[in-house]
This record gives sequence, structure tokens and C-alpha cells, in this order.
Amino acid sequence: MKTVLKNAHLVLPEETKHGDLLIEDGLIATIGGSIDAPGAEEIDCSDKWVLPGVIDAHVHFRSPGYEYKEDWETGSKAALAGGVTTVFDMPNTKPQTTTAETLKSKRALARKGSLVNFGLFLGATGENIDVINEAEGIVGVKVYMGQTTGQEIADPDEALDTMLRDLFERTHRVIAVHAEDETQIRKHMKTYKGEEFPEIHSLIRNDSVAYTAARRAVHIAKKYSGRLHICHLSTKKEVALLAKYTDDNITAEVAPHHLFFTVSDYAQRGTLLKMNPPLRSHADVDALWEALIDGSIPMIATDHAPHLKKEKLRGYWDAPAGVPGVEMVLPLLLDSVHEKMLDIHQVVSLLCEGPARVYGVKNKGRLREGYDADLAVVDMDMMRTVHNERVMSKCGWTPYDGMDVRGWPIMTFVGGRLMMENGSIVSGHNGREVELV
Ligand code: NCD
Ligand code: ZN
Repeated sequence: MKTVLKNAHLVLPEETKHGDLLIEDGLIATIGGSIDAPGAEEIDCSDKWVLPGVIDAHVHFRSPGYEYKEDWETGSKAALAGGVTTVFDMPNTKPQTTTAETLKSKRALARKGSLVNFGLFLGATGENIDVINEAEGIVGVKVYMGQTTGQEIADPDEALDTMLRDLFERTHRVIAVHAEDETQIRKHMKTYKGEEFPEIHSLIRNDSVAYTAARRAVHIAKKYSGRLHICHLSTKKEVALLAKYTDDNITAEVAPHHLFFTVSDYAQRGTLLKMNPPLRSHADVDALWEALIDGSIPMIATDHAPHLKKEKLRGYWDAPAGVPGVEMVLPLLLDSVHEKMLDIHQVVSLLCEGPARVYGVKNKGRLREGYDADLAVVDMDMMRTVHNERVMSKCGWTPYDGMDVRGWPIMTFVGGRLMMENGSIVSGHNGREVELV
């Protein structure tokens, strides 16, 4: 099967080429020039930009166990709508993905339900290091240092250091850490007991909560030469911490909600914006942008954490933490190109090449001959107001509702197959589990 994307702006790592791109047997066969491939389907991409499909290395697709919030089909359709062609799913499902059996059954669910490519994390329990070392094909290990949705923490201090040391010492896998200090969280919860303002979320889980846990993880990783990845880095203090450790063994990601909202947005959106780690100050947001622009943070991942709107509106203490994002991250970043925050190559670096490099994903993340034809075709000039009603995620809402965004994916290809066109899902073909280098 051959397809030619005609007359496009082809976004390569260092340059943009103008011309055609040939897809053959699911791979990128030829990039650039005028391609005449007999028998190929031709798709006119004049004035459109062709990017590698986005790799979202942090999603919660909720299956098994919480399918009323999201499942592999709805989550992956939301991904396609947003130009995302690969997702890595987190283990805080029900049951948690922490054993060989639960990994196997989640894999079966993803294979059956996912329209995009996928990778799976195993959760660390402190007792499953052998399972972790023996598991085939996982993208990494997830460690929750602080309590969050679907993750209770029994004894915050004693077991944690031992677990981290064991992981860094005894496995070569990427250890992806949710870095928030449980002891401080518990103390602050007592302080704000009885208060109902959503703003207290950012005080209970303040920047010291994040920094303390991140520093602890960094120190143990350094000591035992481990491979640490800090999830959803959100504070200026953590950026400064990471700046001291520039080697490839310590990496981090930023989530889009920490780039596009600050604490002042609680006033309008309330508990809808409750997530862990929480929203931060303008100074923190500026530091995150700076670190992404100068390349010291290599990637963005959404932490797509769908909950139903009615759950989110329960009031501060009962509202679950987490916001959806898989559908919106590419449009938001394309908009930031118009705002002159990033250029298009930086967007591709942060959403495609960065995650592929950090996790060692094979054959993905850039437009290169021989790589998988996972592609997003974008219309940089399309203006659209974001509406909850248009959301594909089962949760049915987005924190970006009402925002005007310029730059949208209009086609998404997975493995050379057109899956999304103008917001509609046009194929039911399933994605594949990623391979690692
Ligand atoms: C996540 C969820 O809902 O699964 N929530 C969140 O606020 N980020 C869990 C998590 O990643 O902490
Ligand atoms: Zn998460």
C-alpha cells in the first residue's frame, strides 16, 4: 500500500523541506522532492505541515477498572483527534499493573482496544523487583512517592528509600517518578482542614512538596547510578535542581496544564483544575517554559487523567485530582508557535523526538526514511474555539474549554494508515505496542 502526501511542509529535526512524502508498507519511504509513485493514493497537503505523530508518554486510559471515565477505544480516539499516535499508559488502574498477570491482561485490553500505538508502565510496589526485571516490553517503571488518584501510600518514609535504592541499583529500566513528599502533604492537609477553596490545593502540595521528593529521588538515583525520569515537573526549584544534573540519566517532563494555567485560574475554573502536582505561580510557569526552550527539559507529556465532570465538581476535598490533555497538547503547542514561544522544530523535539529519546522508542519520533509512518498533518492557520462538546475523551470535558487556539491537526496516520481526518475517526485499525531500542 502506497500513499503520497503532496506539496507539504515536512518538519525534519533541523530543517523544513517542502515537497512530497511517500508512505509505503507502513513506513516513511521517501522524504522531499516531487514523488511520482504509480498506483499510490495521493493526498494534497498544500499549505499543510507534516510532523511526526506525537508520543504522549504519560496517559491514564483507566482500563481496567475505571472504564466509566475512559477506555482504550475512547482514549485512543482522543489521541488521534490530537495528532497523538503513541501513548504510554500508567499503572494506577484497578487492579494496578504491578504483576505479570495484570500486565498481561492490560496488554490484551490495549491490543484489542487501542487505535494508537502504546507502551505500558509497571508500577513499583517495593516487593515486585523480580517482576519488573522479568517483564518483557514495558517502557518503564512508575513510582508514586506521594498519594494521588488510585494510589494510597501506606508508610511514606521507611519503605520508600529502600524501594528507590533497589530499583536504581537492580534494574536498568527508566524509573519514572511522581515526586511529591507524602509527609509534607499530610501535614499541610491538617493545616487546611475545613477550608474549601480550590486554591488550597497549591498550598497543601506546595513547591517544597515537589522539590523535596524530586531531590530525594535525584540523590538516590545518582548514588546508585540509576535511570531517573521525573514526571510532570512543575516548579522553578525543581528546574534549578535538574540544571545541576545535565547527564542523560536524569530527565524530566512537563505537563501542558502547568504551562497554560497558573494559580490565578482557580478563580474561574475551580476544582476542575485540581491535579497532582497542582497549579503554580507565574514565576514557576516562566521557569518551565525557559527550561523547555533551552532544551534542559527534553519533553512534554500530558498526564491525561480523565475524570467525569460531575466528579470534578464535588467540592475541594472530594473532587478527584487530574485533568484530560491528550487531545489538546499539540494544538496548544502549535498555538504557542504563533505566540512566538517555540518554533515548530522545538514542538517536534518536545512532543516526538524527546519522548522517543528518553524512553528509547524504536523507529519513531522523527520524519526519517525507514521510520514508522506515524504522522500528524496540521493546518497551522486553523482557528478554533475549544468546546467541551467536541471532546472525544469519555470524560466529556476539557480544562481548555472556551480558549481560542490556532493550529490543529487535520489528519493523523498510524503505521501509514489514515486514522483521523478533520476530527472524524476514519479507520478502526489497531495500534501496536512500541519496541524499544
Ligand atoms: C492522576 C490520575 O487521575 O490518575 N491524577 C493527577 O492528578 N495527575 C494520577 C497521577 O498521575 O498523579
Ligand atoms: Zn499521571
